Amino acid sequence: LSTTEVDLAPIAVGQAVTVVWRGKPVFVRHRTPEEIRVARATSLSELKDPQPDQARVIRDPWLVMVGICTHLGCVPLGQKVTDPRGEFGGWFCPCHGSHYDTSGRIRKGPAPTNLVVPPYAFTSDTQIRIG
Ligand code: FES
Repeated sequence: LSTTEVDLAPIAVGQAVTVVWRGKPVFVRHRTPEEIRVARATSLSELKDPQPDQARVIRDPWLVMVGICTHLGCVPLGQKVTDPRGEFGGWFCPCHGSHYDTSGRIRKGPAPTNLVVPPYAFTSDTQIRIG
């Protein structure tokens, strides 16, 4: 399948799901207001791959990203609330220690670029189509 539909309604604030799109894991996180606040408060000068949080989302609480570390392709941890999320509260790649923030931007470690936002669109208030 070249597209993947995701029902957002069951995903509570602070929770995330992982779906598969074109054989790749895609992370969908319903961010908390605090996670969004921290992402927005980060200055671009602090970022290795400078991108404002607003450029990485379509609708505020929802962060949708390919769940593949941009270093050597491991799947970062952080989808479960009990997972280690690294020093910036987003995702942590245990393979070589890359830390991603609550916008999925690389903040520390060897990964060169932010987690990739795939093409997607809202098909209703509670549904997205990836691809
Ligand atoms: Fe993630 Fe190396 S593959 S840090």
